[in-house]
Amino acid sequence: MEASQAASQATGDALALRGDNLVKRFGAVTALDGVSFTLGRGEILGILGDNGAGKSTLVKILTGFHQQTSGTLHVDGEEILLRSVDHARALGIECVYQDLALANSLSIYHNMFLNREIVRRGPFRLLDHKQMRARAAQCLDDIGVHVPSVDLPVERLSGGQRQAIAVARAVYSNAKILLLDEPLAAMGAREAALIIDLIMRLKEKGGLSIIIIMHNYAQTLDIADRILLMQRGRVTYEQRSANTSVAELMDIVRREYRAMRDTLAR
Ligand SMILES: Nc1ncnc2c1ncn2[C@@H]1O[C@H](COP(=O)(O)OP(=O)(O)OP(=O)(O)O)[C@@H](O)[C@H]1O
Ligand SMILES: [Mg+2]
Repeated sequence: MEASQAASQATGDALALRGDNLVKRFGAVTALDGVSFTLGRGEILGILGDNGAGKSTLVKILTGFHQQTSGTLHVDGEEILLRSVDHARALGIECVYQDLALANSLSIYHNMFLNREIVRRGPFRLLDHKQMRARAAQCLDDIGVHVPSVDLPVERLSGGQRQAIAVARAVYSNAKILLLDEPLAAMGAREAALIIDLIMRLKEKGGLSIIIIMHNYAQTLDIADRILLMQRGRVTYEQRSANTSVAELMDIVRREYRAMRDTLAR
């Protein structure tokens, strides 16, 4: 199926995000060469593609970290130029980066409220630890993340648990759109299962749209409702997960690789 045809499958009011013909240049490098995509409300979109395909660049535009060279973005049906990460956050777009940005020596509940601490009423604006603890525990419980205690410093958690805290923090912030750039990278099978489980539970709760970048085709097809394949700054394939397979995706990538090798050999 043509990418443009599949893109039109998620249309109308149901769209959380839409990108049209996004181009991003870094000097002489064209990282995105006209990317169009849609993200439906409550949908999980998986982005696959080789190293350097432009996946992270796309996500960084969606988080307001980079601005596109050209092309447009619609958030909730409204055209918007995301000026900064704070601007995107204010619109309910949250990102969990691979390097997480958790403060490792601080407790779990501190991390969940980092930069938006709850303070007690009164003249001294003292931190309301009791309430932050209770709310952090409640939030983790809601989304099924089990930790021995929210007082534990984050550095005492496993990689998967830490990732789960980062996701929980983003969700707690009332994110409407969650962007996950390789959340399973460098994770063992058990930890990856924890995160996959968390993502599936968030989906069941509804109301949250997710874009997830992963390298593993099988895991992506399991989690995502729909996948995009990016190659050299373009979307070269788009399909509902139910209508494709690991074999088909590998075949597309293999064909591309052969074509490139032939060009180089000439
Ligand atoms: N800040 C930057 N300055 C210059 N070039 C950049 C910058 N960020 C990305 N690029 C280039 O843009 C292209 C796309 O990079 P990007 O990080 O988006 O790829 P990716 O698909 O996320 O790859 P990976 O799977 O390795 O994470 C690459 O050629 C990269 O070198
Ligand atoms: Mg990347």
